[in-house]
Amino acid sequence: SVTDMGYHDRGGGPDHDASTAPQAVDALTVPDGLEADVRVTLTAERREFTLASGRRVDGYTLNGSSPGPEIRAEHGQLIEVRLLNESVPDGVTLHWHGVDVPGAMDGAAGVTQDAVGPGGEFVYRFFADQVGTFWYHSHQVSHEQVRGGLLGPLVITPASGPPADVDAVALVHHYDGRRTVNGREGVDRVAAAPGDTVRVRIVNTDFEVMRVWVDGARFRVAAVDGTGLHEPAEVEDVTVMVAAGGRNDLEFTVPARGPVRVNLGATAALLVGDGTTAASERPQEVLDLLHYGSPRGIGFDPGAPDREFAFGIGRRPGFLDGRPGVWWTVNGGLFPDVPMFTVAYGDIVRMRITNDSGESHPMHLHGHHAVVLSRDGVAATGSPWWIDSLEVGDGETYEIAFEADNPGIWMDHCHNLPHAAEGLVAHLVYE
Ligand code: C2O
Ligand code: CU
Repeated sequence: SVTDMGYHDRGGGPDHDASTAPQAVDALTVPDGLEADVRVTLTAERREFTLASGRRVDGYTLNGSSPGPEIRAEHGQLIEVRLLNESVPDGVTLHWHGVDVPGAMDGAAGVTQDAVGPGGEFVYRFFADQVGTFWYHSHQVSHEQVRGGLLGPLVITPASGPPADVDAVALVHHYDGRRTVNGREGVDRVAAAPGDTVRVRIVNTDFEVMRVWVDGARFRVAAVDGTGLHEPAEVEDVTVMVAAGGRNDLEFTVPARGPVRVNLGATAALLVGDGTTAASERPQEVLDLLHYGSPRGIGFDPGAPDREFAFGIGRRPGFLDGRPGVWWTVNGGLFPDVPMFTVAYGDIVRMRITNDSGESHPMHLHGHHAVVLSRDGVAATGSPWWIDSLEVGDGETYEIAFEADNPGIWMDHCHNLPHAAEGLVAHLVYE
């Protein structure tokens, strides 16, 4: 629900303390002339650049580097980002992945704005009214520009400060097939002392699910896609799956001896603390978020929806924009013969996502967070599991629900971005 403070209340949790919600902030409008708390200029270039390892990458930079700078804000602050296109021939936008910004700020080229051509600029202004881990990326020719590095992390902390002694991003991205953490090939490191509490904000900017496991400490999954989980239990020897486009925040305490190693797939890691340690074998057991944490209210009744939609993912031969091929389909149709899911403001929406396409698809809904109700007919029993990026495996069925509380036209697409370019895109529209 949008509370009277204009704050998207997703039922609380460690990251969602209503007492930190800003007073009198309207999420939908930013008054002209209001001075921003966080001001950033991002200059986009199409160029070669060098990773810390010395490897040359032909891609895209923001302010000369990829990933672009980490943007940090506190809950309730006004963020202003001026995007300048220095030399990206195809044009560029910025999408605030996971932030339910007002429609005009969503950065979806061709949907909410035109791409910014070379020499042009666009100013994004929105309130940081959700606490959590997010990222930003270009949404113009995004399968190419995101792959090439036009992206960066965005963190919104509670107004009372970061939730742990050490608060670090682990943004994972493949450049030319090399996996990097915060732009470093292989391993990045964060300083921490024994006894420190640590939050590691994992951001999967790649196109496939990432398998994460931790050596050297028991840990909790504190948040998923920017929303705190309710009473998440400490676990060890389990693998955590991070959807493409998704974020998982892990929390742990640094032990007396040795660093904690957060393994980010088989070829990358974040080392927290002094010393070094090799990766253990990846645990077989996978943490199932459907049954993790303890239940609490979600703020609406998904049993009495105003709208019910089917989002059926398939694949078949046909013509996409006149090009013959084998393409992804939505409810049997090839783009643009795909659904416009029409809602009215305030509707409770249920969506059933099925996947009979032969591959996994990380489905990303703009402008909204949805709660997972069930997978393959098995009801969720854990903490409300709010998502904006949901990995739907081949043969799986998910039921999700959300409140239509953010008017606009919103993309709902696969975040394996080449798949989106191959037609796996639908839209949610407000009537
Ligand atoms: Cu992260 Cu439509 O994108
Ligand atoms: Cu896909």
